[in-house]
Amino acid sequence: MIPSQRHLFDIPEEVAYFNCAYMSPLSHDVFAAGDMGLRRKYNPWKLLPEDFFTESEATRAVFADMVNANADDIAIIHAASYGTAIASANIPLAAGQNIVLLDEQFPSNVYPWFEKAKDAGADIITIPRPADDIWTPLILDAITDKTGIVALPHCHWTDGGLIDLVTIGKRCREVGAALVVDATQSLGAMPFDVEAIQPDFLVAATYKWLLGPYSMGFLYVAPKWHDGRPLEEGWIQRGGSENFARLVDYRDDYQPGARRYDMGERANFALMPVAKAALDMIMGWGVENIQTTLSARNLAIADRARAMGLGSVSPDLRAGHFLGLRFPDGVPDGLAATLAANKVFVSVRGPAMRITPHVFNTDADVDKLFAVLGKEI
Ligand SMILES: Cc1ncc(COP(=O)(O)O)c(C=O)c1O
Repeated sequence: MIPSQRHLFDIPEEVAYFNCAYMSPLSHDVFAAGDMGLRRKYNPWKLLPEDFFTESEATRAVFADMVNANADDIAIIHAASYGTAIASANIPLAAGQNIVLLDEQFPSNVYPWFEKAKDAGADIITIPRPADDIWTPLILDAITDKTGIVALPHCHWTDGGLIDLVTIGKRCREVGAALVVDATQSLGAMPFDVEAIQPDFLVAATYKWLLGPYSMGFLYVAPKWHDGRPLEEGWIQRGGSENFARLVDYRDDYQPGARRYDMGERANFALMPVAKAALDMIMGWGVENIQTTLSARNLAIADRARAMGLGSVSPDLRAGHFLGLRFPDGVPDGLAATLAANKVFVSVRGPAMRITPHVFNTDADVDKLFAVLGKEI
C-alpha cells in the first residue's frame, strides 16, 4: 500500500479529486519538468541537437519497461486516436470479415473501425453490455474465423468493467484476428504485460492514469507490424535523421522498429520531459502497488455506497482503480455539478458516476464525498 502522496501534488485540502478517468493532475515535480521543457524554447540556444533524440529515447524506454516491451516496439504519438488510426491503416481486412467492439466503447477506439469496416465491406459486431457485467465470455463467443480485428479496452471507461485480455489474445491468435487495445483508462494504474497478452497494437494517452500531459501518448507495435505504413512521412522518422546537415540525402529506410510511426515533431521539448517525469514517478511507486492502493480505496468507497443503495460492478469483475457507481433510477441530473460545487470532483459517463482516485486521495476526501452524497440522495 502506498501512503497518501498528497504532498507531491498541488491539491488544496478542501478539494476531493476523484477524476483521474477524466484528467489526472500533474505532480509538483512533473510540472517542474514541463517548466524546464518549455524554457528550452524560451531560450532556444540552450536546446541541443541531441535533445531531439535522447529524451525521446529515454521516455520510450521507460514506457517500454512499463508494459514489458522493448523500446524498439514503441512509437511516440499525441492521442489515442492517432494510435488506433495507425492500427487501422495497417491491419488488412477483407469484405465479409468483421471487427469486434464493446457497447459504449470510447469513440477513439470505435470510429476508426466504423470507417475501416465501411471501406472494406466488413461488419461491426458490438458486444451488448452484459446484465451480469461478465464481458469476456461474450467477447470470446463473438470471435470467429470471420473476425479480422478485435478492438478493446482493458477496462470499460464508464464503470471499470474488466476484460480478460490474456484469454482474448489467445483466442485472437487461434482465429488469426488482430488485437488492438486502448489502455488509456488503465495503463499506469493496472499492470499490462505485452508478452502475456500479445496485442498487435496497444495505445494509451498520457493525460489520465499515466499522470502526464495532454496531447501525448504511446503506441506499442508488435514486431510483426514494424514494416508497416506510418500516417506521416516526416524527416525524423527516416534513417540517418540524427545528421541534420544531410537531411536532404533523401533515404528510403526508416529509424528502427516502431519509430517510423512516431508523430511529426515527436521530440516535443515542452511535453516530453513531463511525460518522462510522470512515467518515472509511476515506476518509482510501482504499477502493482498503485493498483493495490487504489483497489483498497475503491473497495471502501463501494462498501459505503452500497449501504446507501448504490451499486457497482463487483470487485472481481472490475479494474480495482476504477469505480462506477450506479443509482437505482440512473445518475440523478445535476449530481456531478452539485458535488463539484462542494469541491468534490467525479464524472458521469454512460450509466455510471465514475469515482477514479489516485495516491493523492485521503480518507478525508472520501468522507467529503459521502457527506455531499448523503445530503443529495
Ligand atoms: C478509453 C479512452 N481512450 C482514449 C481516450 C482519449 O482519446 P484521445 O487521446 O483520442 O483524445 C479516452 C478519454 O476519455 C478514453 O476514456
